[in-house]
Amino acid sequence: MTKTLYNGVKMPRLGLGTFRVADGDVAYQTVRHALSVGYRHIDTAQMYGNEDGVGRAIRDSGIDREAIFITTKQRHHMPPEDAMRAFNDSLERLKTDYVDLFLIHWPNHDKEINQETWRFFESLYDHKKARAIGVCNFQKHHIIDLYETAKIRPMVNQVELHPGLPQIPLKRFLDEQRIATISYGPFMKGEVFKDHYEETLSRLATKYEATIAQVVIAWGLERDIFMIPKSVTPDRIDQNFAARDLVLDPDDIKVINALSRGKRVYTDPDNNPWGVFKPYQP
Ligand SMILES: NC(=O)c1ccc[n+]([C@@H]2O[C@H](COP(=O)([O-])OP(=O)(O)OC[C@H]3O[C@@H](n4cnc5c(N)ncnc54)[C@H](OP(=O)(O)O)[C@@H]3O)[C@@H](O)[C@H]2O)c1
Repeated sequence: MTKTLYNGVKMPRLGLGTFRVADGDVAYQTVRHALSVGYRHIDTAQMYGNEDGVGRAIRDSGIDREAIFITTKQRHHMPPEDAMRAFNDSLERLKTDYVDLFLIHWPNHDKEINQETWRFFESLYDHKKARAIGVCNFQKHHIIDLYETAKIRPMVNQVELHPGLPQIPLKRFLDEQRIATISYGPFMKGEVFKDHYEETLSRLATKYEATIAQVVIAWGLERDIFMIPKSVTPDRIDQNFAARDLVLDPDDIKVINALSRGKRVYTDPDNNPWGVFKPYQP
């Protein structure tokens, strides 16, 4: 169950998120379990501090490296020589000599810094160290600014996207640009299981003999969005993966879209403190 990015690379539509998955045994066991169930797309980041556990799990799984799609993200903006060291350290921790997808984690407020970082990403792509490159948390204006100097357009934008924030205008823009959309935070830090969201989603879950989590994942997949739910709990990892077989009626997609409250549970990209420019400190 993959979808082809505009550069021809196939990316599995459903993956495992690993934010707040502790490095060491937890990351190792979580990723080993996910791979045994059939996940072939693992989303990590320099910032998560768990690339080593993820890399060990992939290495020990016995599955061919080429069959697994690994995404990681550059922690913050830095001079190119520092960025290269940080990238090589990621490869070492992940125990691989390339990644499938490398992402800018947060935009800087200065467009020239984003453009400079993107030049580094383009060089990694040119040298086949990353099979695809992209961004996270970029608004439309960040992407337009990147185009001023980009030789290669991003293949992916990973953004906060869930029933409280369906990102319909941004997704439409990304579709026009042939940039794939990945959802993060699909369960809204637990809010989809409560109140306003729960009322509607539990009715749909009953209708489809599924769980709320599965309805949310199926909603994203049906909107042509890549989904990377995170769990460290084996039966939830299984349950989330099974959502790929769930098909919702088009009217129910609209019902979920209408739950939007324009609500972010993560940081607003236009006012974020994360996309700083500073030297690399291993
Ligand atoms: N690019 C970015 O800036 C950015 C930002 C945030 C996240 N991300 C990526 O997106 C991934 C997903 O987002 P997220 O980690 O924020 O949150 P999420 O996937 O929306 O939710 C994870 C939470 O939901 C619980 N959960 C998982 N499956 C469940 C189920 N079937 N039923 C009930 N609860 C369930 C998990 O608990 P347990 O683990 O205890 O089971 C965990 O507490 C991240 O892990 C990361 O890879 C990217």
